[in-house]
Amino acid sequence: MAAGPEPTEYDGEAVIEVGDYGDAGDSDLDPLDFDAESANTSITSSIYKHSYENGRRDGKYPIPNDDIEQNREDMKHAMVLELTDGKLVHAPIGDNPQKVIDLGTGTGIWAIDFADKYPSAQVTGVDLSPIQPSWIPPNLKFLVDDVEDEWLAGTDYDLVYARNLAPLVKDFPKLLKRSFENLKPGGWIETADFSANVDCDDGTMKPDWPLKVFWDKVQDAMTIFGTEIRVAPRVGALMAEAGFVNVTRKVFKVPVGTWPLDKTLRLVGLYMRTVTGDFLGAAASKPFQKLGMSEAEIEVFLASVRRALGSEAVHCYGRYYVWSGQKPEG
Ligand SMILES: C[S@@+](CC[C@H](N)C(=O)[O-])C[C@H]1O[C@@H](n2cnc3c(N)ncnc32)[C@H](O)[C@@H]1O
Repeated sequence: MAAGPEPTEYDGEAVIEVGDYGDAGDSDLDPLDFDAESANTSITSSIYKHSYENGRRDGKYPIPNDDIEQNREDMKHAMVLELTDGKLVHAPIGDNPQKVIDLGTGTGIWAIDFADKYPSAQVTGVDLSPIQPSWIPPNLKFLVDDVEDEWLAGTDYDLVYARNLAPLVKDFPKLLKRSFENLKPGGWIETADFSANVDCDDGTMKPDWPLKVFWDKVQDAMTIFGTEIRVAPRVGALMAEAGFVNVTRKVFKVPVGTWPLDKTLRLVGLYMRTVTGDFLGAAASKPFQKLGMSEAEIEVFLASVRRALGSEAVHCYGRYYVWSGQKPEG
């Protein structure tokens, strides 16, 4: 008997239905307004060390955190709210969480929304960079700190949240252990990360599709910087190793472009195309140079990626992984 294909973790995933909109795919979409405003926060730490390189501001990690990147993060927030039906958290934390920390809070947009929605919670957003606004809910504070070191922000948390952070830190298993130590018994950790890859279900994407090659190159470059950009599928196993129980996973397909039939997914795809396009410059500035590419090579390659992003004929998508795990009671 002929052996069938090997089972994969994606068996049983729904295929995104393709629409027939052509270039008119995004004309009737009505993206939510998002507030990309950012103001200065008081700087209390020596961690505030930035340099300008390639015309973009850089801190400790190789993706810049300048205005373009901050707007991109806020747009990703709007996109994942569309994708996940407006859910800020998936772990069963109840209606009255008390102490919550957002690791690598970025512009603080998740922490602000969370603090607004859960007035019972004292929320702390922590980041290497003081890029958060100063007009914030009274139950929220921001702190500049490196979450890979001992936390300045205390202990006994009900929820540790880390979105789009796992692929950036040098030692994610260590960060999980630190989170475990700083949670209350019965408290939850939740992570949310993109796959940093594209896939396709209907054969329209060839292996040399520039967007696919782009993500492979980003992965190669980030490996040189010592981070695992495609860690998202393995986070659950790492949570279990760190001692978490009741580990659960939700995976969402994220179309690139407005090719899906479903209107929400078309809007998500519009966002995804935009945030990916806005990431090209960030990827070019340090990571691709690290691969030994010349400026001219980078420019030519990125032009091909931009053309690929504009194509609705290739039905590719990334994945968004949400993992939650609980610190055992007692
Ligand atoms: C991709 S952004 C995600 C922002 C936010 N979590 C969100 O989803 O909107 C990653 C953020 O993590 C921060 N970061 C990276 N490594 C960090 C570390 N070791 N300690 C604290 N923040 C860190 C960066 O400064 C950046 O603002």
